Amino acid sequence: MSDILYEGKSKTICGGPDERTVVVRYKDTATAFDGKKKEDLAGKGRLNAEITRLLFGYLAQHGIKTHLLEVIDDTTELVRKAEIVMVEVIVRNAAAGGFSKKYGVPEGTALANAITEFSLKSDALGDPMINESQITALGIATTEELAFMTAQSLKINELLCALFGKAGIRLIDYKLEFGRCENADGVREILLCDELSPDSCRLWDAETDKKLDKDRFRRDLGDVLGGYREVLRRLQDVL
Ligand SMILES: Nc1ncnc2c1ncn2[C@@H]1O[C@H](COP(=O)(O)OP(=O)(O)OP(=O)(O)O)[C@@H](O)[C@H]1O
Ligand SMILES: [Mg+2]
Repeated sequence: MSDILYEGKSKTICGGPDERTVVVRYKDTATAFDGKKKEDLAGKGRLNAEITRLLFGYLAQHGIKTHLLEVIDDTTELVRKAEIVMVEVIVRNAAAGGFSKKYGVPEGTALANAITEFSLKSDALGDPMINESQITALGIATTEELAFMTAQSLKINELLCALFGKAGIRLIDYKLEFGRCENADGVREILLCDELSPDSCRLWDAETDKKLDKDRFRRDLGDVLGGYREVLRRLQDVL
């Protein structure tokens, strides 16, 4: 594998075979609270890589452009190199986590409509929530880009809710990252990037509300990867 371009908390990004691609390797490291809590969970990388591959594949089949090009091995994939938009889109179907705390809504309360919100990608600042006029004022993204990312996130949400519903899983909330790319004709486009996994989604068993995601790690609920394996198994059953 070629030089490391970026060593993230849960993935390593290396140069790809050409300048338009990069190689993503999923690590076993689990982190929470901006990296303050950290542990190695053997097999997490493989599970997240596989779950992301299944979900990105499903979204691509339904017209969502993603960065994924090719699976290299069970923890490594070839993706289109993107200039990541430095805001994450948070999508919420039910209250949980920071939203529950901030607005005093019990976790698990269904929301009358899906929420999209932005947070600035900055570990140093604790990924603060940021609004559209603040994002454009700081030159992080344009109004058009934000409108596209929001519309795309709502489309993705409909597709994911339908899929997880079939799998008997409640998609409570999750974060998406988008990146700017040039296609083969030199046209700029915005792609879904990064990952979609139990590290980046809150996923609850639809019958029992059992948590099947990284909250098992954050909240010391035990058997973290048991939850991840359950998500993978149920997705494989419905895809
Ligand atoms: N297609 C892509 N091209 C370039 N960079 C990408 C692409 N997809 C994801 N990334 C970036 O690669 C990194 C993945 O590593 P990881 O998820 O471990 O980072 P992280 O520690 O969460 O840090 P960050 O705060 O930057 O997300 C992230 O910075 C992510 O934004
Ligand atoms: Mg990340």
